[in-house]
Amino acid sequence: EKSGYDWFMRKEIFEQPRAVADTLLGRYSDNGELVLDEIRIGPEELRRVDKIIIIGCGTAYYAGMVAKYVIEHWTRIGCEVELASEFRYRDPIVDANTLCVAISQSGETADTLQAIRHAREQGSKVIAICNTNGSTIPRESDAVIYTHAGPEIGVASTKGFLTQLIACYLLGLFLAQVRGVKFGDEIGAVMDELAGMPPRIQRLLDGADEVYGLAHELIDQGDYVFLGRHVGYPAAMEGALKLKEIAYLHAEGFAAGELKHGPIAIINPGMPVFVIVPPAGRDQLHDKVVSNIQEVRARGARTIVLAEEDDGEVDAYAERVIRLPRVSTLLQPVLAVVPLQLFACELATALGNDVDQPRNLAKSVTVE
Ligand code: BG6
Repeated sequence: EKSGYDWFMRKEIFEQPRAVADTLLGRYSDNGELVLDEIRIGPEELRRVDKIIIIGCGTAYYAGMVAKYVIEHWTRIGCEVELASEFRYRDPIVDANTLCVAISQSGETADTLQAIRHAREQGSKVIAICNTNGSTIPRESDAVIYTHAGPEIGVASTKGFLTQLIACYLLGLFLAQVRGVKFGDEIGAVMDELAGMPPRIQRLLDGADEVYGLAHELIDQGDYVFLGRHVGYPAAMEGALKLKEIAYLHAEGFAAGELKHGPIAIINPGMPVFVIVPPAGRDQLHDKVVSNIQEVRARGARTIVLAEEDDGEVDAYAERVIRLPRVSTLLQPVLAVVPLQLFACELATALGNDVDQPRNLAKSVTVE
């Protein structure tokens, strides 16, 4: 049931405030403790973990990239993220002190399933982050954190991705709590900020018409570039993936800091370049990314900048600014991806594509 929407994908994008709220529901106890009942791995075992490997495919892999930044920062445990299809065949170093985190919306992706089977054969514990109750990946894992996005029909993941991010934040906080590196107040502060995400997502959705207008303006460009840094890098990759998946357009995501090491060579006059700007803060990331906007603008790119609502420093170099509500850096991808989803969905539907069932793609790929 599309409840008045033209496509399931659009409906699912607009369901995200609810999906995120549901994924957070019941995770935080009255006495200020994070509760993840589904984690059936004992605290002793979780304290022994000396390495985390996150695996997934497609969108789930990009959620894993965000998780790496978050989990390392909060827990100080070394964290790798790898495409499930690569992990299995490179003789990875995994043992009983390795924690594997498998991210899969469907819970049926063959590459991810093979990867966790391999990890468990080496004695590693596996936690699945999954949206589908009773699917194969959670059944074959030691523990599961369910996202509560509800059924996702559109092949290109949207609410699946946002809720995977939420589950990754919860896992990072939980590990930090169990290992005693983060305490009540700090955890409470992040939980409060997470609880404030649904209304912030809603504000971005309320601005959909502006993004749709941009999609119509930029419809006939050959190539699209997405730049981001730190957790904005996976968000940029996800923005490019959406455009490939449903608009069948050539889109590339790059780490903004890599621009001068190659990608800047492809910037042509008139090329749309989306730039995700980190919140202005203590470190220099923000200013470095603002310089990147300047660099591509100087080469004639059409700069579409996603920046915090009170960030005035981007205005001089931005053809268009999409304003993001203020949040801490680590949470920003939850917001930055939303306009990129709206952009891809509108552009692809304007091209006449079936965005729910894009050509050549399947919702879950059950062969390797
Ligand atoms: C791909 C889908 O085949 O699988 C992507 O087309 C998806 O949209 C990816 O992100 C991973 O799927 P899952 O179910 O493992 O999260």
